[in-house]
Amino acid sequence: MHYFHYKDGDLYCEEAPIVTIADSVGTPFYLYSHKTLVRHFKAFDSAFEKVRHLVCYSVKANSNLALLRIFVKLGAGLDVVSGGELFRALKSGVDPKKVVFSGVGKTEEEIEYALNSGILMFNAESSQELARIDEIAGRLGTRAPVAIRVNPDIDPKTHPYIATGLRENKFGIDFNLSMKEYIFANGLPHIEIIGVDCHIGSQLIELQPFVEALRRVKELIHVLGQRGIGIQYLDLGGGLGITYKDEVPPHPTEYANAIVEEASDLDYTLIFEPGRVIVGNAGILVSRVLYTKETGEKNFVIIDAGMNDLIRPSLYGSFQGILPVAKGEEEEIVADVVGPICESGDFIAKDRRMPKFKPGDLMAVMSAGAYGFSMSSNYNARPKVCEVLARGDRFHLIRERESYDDLIRGERIPDFLE
Ligand code: LLP
Repeated sequence: MHYFHYKDGDLYCEEAPIVTIADSVGTPFYLYSHKTLVRHFKAFDSAFEKVRHLVCYSVKANSNLALLRIFVKLGAGLDVVSGGELFRALKSGVDPKKVVFSGVGKTEEEIEYALNSGILMFNAESSQELARIDEIAGRLGTRAPVAIRVNPDIDPKTHPYIATGLRENKFGIDFNLSMKEYIFANGLPHIEIIGVDCHIGSQLIELQPFVEALRRVKELIHVLGQRGIGIQYLDLGGGLGITYKDEVPPHPTEYANAIVEEASDLDYTLIFEPGRVIVGNAGILVSRVLYTKETGEKNFVIIDAGMNDLIRPSLYGSFQGILPVAKGEEEEIVADVVGPICESGDFIAKDRRMPKFKPGDLMAVMSAGAYGFSMSSNYNARPKVCEVLARGDRFHLIRERESYDDLIRGERIPDFLE
């Protein structure tokens, strides 16, 4: 459910005509709907109202400060995976006691930054990381709150690049070794074990893998209890999928019901780290058609956004809906939508039936709110696009378009070249 809709043939974001926004900010740009963001967050959060829980929105999905502030004002915590994300989180005004720090490769500097910020907990992913956290916490004269991320070896049935809970993946501690690691961590003087964490993958469209992972983790918590290691938090990660094309993922209430049913006998706070399900369908990428061309083989629609702006189709072969911002009476054609980047992998859609776009037409690339801007780059020396938040009939620039000067900021030509 989202608030991008047509009114008399023109595409609107809430009550704001997209053509007006494009005239004002130029193209390409990311556009988010405030009402959709709020609705999605509340739907997820309220689905768990019967149990003690904390929704830590996963910053990596979309880390714009304005979006983080929206969720924080609704009571969210945040899930971060780097010092940079922690910095953004703190700038957004989040209570540090609602921040969880995940990720397989936390540096010493990042661990120290998080300890000094007083975060809720680290999700630790290896024996060596546990030892490192212990050593740094000791040096700072504190104790680090830690959950161990276990890898339950469950097939999440998603794209291999975004599956994380299989034994062959780099993530978490092998389920069979997790007890040993807990005992090791429990013996470390500057570590306080407070939780168990598991995240098995992203864009999951079935409930079963979530439930199976939870069952496995429950076994572990049971045995930990017998060993006198008490758990206050169970972090079940993110991963709930969305509809890009015709997928039918579970609604957050179905997801919550399945989890709560399985976890009802447990006495601790559940943590969730949803990203995509909150922001994915709340954002689009708006681009302008530069040229069209027909080779004997194919039709191409060349737009002013490329794989540096939205890499998901190139990287995962993902489907993103394509809509005209102004509907016309044109015939339909089958075409590839491609960008200006010098790579054949630079495409947004392939062999797609779509209206016959003309140069100058605006195109909306749908479902681009998650892992869109946050994965964008400056490849081909393209300034990063601007981001806009619409609310009712108003719209707000929430990130400026980069300038050419931004592109070379920090670069130096050494003296010997002068
Ligand atoms: N927690 C952890 C530890 C994660 O690694 C992730 C995502 C999340 C939470 C949030 O997952 P979500 O609810 O968004 O599924 N770039 C890829 C997705 C990569 C996901 C990485 N981890 C894409 O565009 O599909």
